[in-house]
Amino acid sequence: MFKDVIVRSSGRYFPERVFTNKEYEAILDTSDEWIVERTGIKERRLAAPGETVSDMALKASLQCLERAGLEPDDVELIIVGTVTPDTIFPATANWLQGKLGNTRAWSFDLNAGCSGYVYSLNTAYNMLRNGQHRYALVVGAEKMTALSDMTNRDHCVLFGDGAACLLLEAVDPAENPQGWGIKDFYLQSDGSLGNILMQTAGGSSHPSTYRTVRNHQHFVEMQGQPVFKNAVRRMYQAVIQVLEQVNVPPEEIDWFVGHQANARIISATQRRLGVPEEKVYMNVQRYGNTTAATIPCCLDELATEGKLVAGHKVVLFTFGTGFTWGSTYLVWGETK
Ligand code: COA
Repeated sequence: MFKDVIVRSSGRYFPERVFTNKEYEAILDTSDEWIVERTGIKERRLAAPGETVSDMALKASLQCLERAGLEPDDVELIIVGTVTPDTIFPATANWLQGKLGNTRAWSFDLNAGCSGYVYSLNTAYNMLRNGQHRYALVVGAEKMTALSDMTNRDHCVLFGDGAACLLLEAVDPAENPQGWGIKDFYLQSDGSLGNILMQTAGGSSHPSTYRTVRNHQHFVEMQGQPVFKNAVRRMYQAVIQVLEQVNVPPEEIDWFVGHQANARIISATQRRLGVPEEKVYMNVQRYGNTTAATIPCCLDELATEGKLVAGHKVVLFTFGTGFTWGSTYLVWGETK
């Protein structure tokens, strides 16, 4: 018999250092006005020198576990969504497990770009749903400034660093009369469009050489407009699809929580869906795009501010490199 999979707690850690658009004005041919008008972003966070993705993931995870009243060893599965791993191998999830002092879990990274969180969440959901494990820690963590070319205004202004997570628990449906938990998801990808948003070098196709470094091939390479157009179209489609699957009309949704890449992408998706602006959460203005960390960060902010409470119906939606996109429908549980 399948289990219900409920969100038990959340956590987040964003570095203290705020990097404002004004600071970019000082080093690039850009302006606060241009960045705000085209993206909605006002500032983002910067990891401290030497601060790694697993360090940030650790702080978010400890907060999440403490709120749930659990010890690190209670967790049996750790997934980290990231495209900025501490090392190519081992996985950031392995480093995180070591830093947590967890000895029970199996742990791995999931690389699906900005869709990394929704992909990770649904992977964990399936592992828990079939009864294999009770607790899973699902983290989105990124140090996007490590992939940002601070001399290239086309992309560096978009990104930031940070980590956030959710703790999932599998319970028997009889113990969950409220019907909380993850209900369904929709995930897709189109691998023919990978070259529109990528990091060329550092993998096995273009190993690191002085040439790849000199040619700035270790940074984000992106064609902004096709990403923008595909993001709106695919995220709209993903929301409609998952709501059809669960037979819930958009009017019944309390929160639409989308990947935070650009305020204009989120607003265009909201208008296309025809849902009220107040139900579509946005914090991209404060953090920029933190890739796999944006969605759990939004959920943690909403929950800790008391705006997202048990019984709320939530749709998560995302789009990213690959291209990858998808959505999740869930009923928020009683979190701490
Ligand atoms: N400051 C000032 N000018 C900038 C700039 C910056 N930071 N970045 C680009 N420009 C310039 C361009 O050089 C161009 O100049 P030109 O007209 O003289 O050639 C002009 O602004 C318009 O550029 P364009 O690319 O058409 O702007 P845009 O409205 O498409 O906005 C993005 C650019 C990147 C903000 C937008 O395309 C976007 O957000 N795309 C999605 C990116 C994304 O979310 N990636 C993460 C994936 S989930």
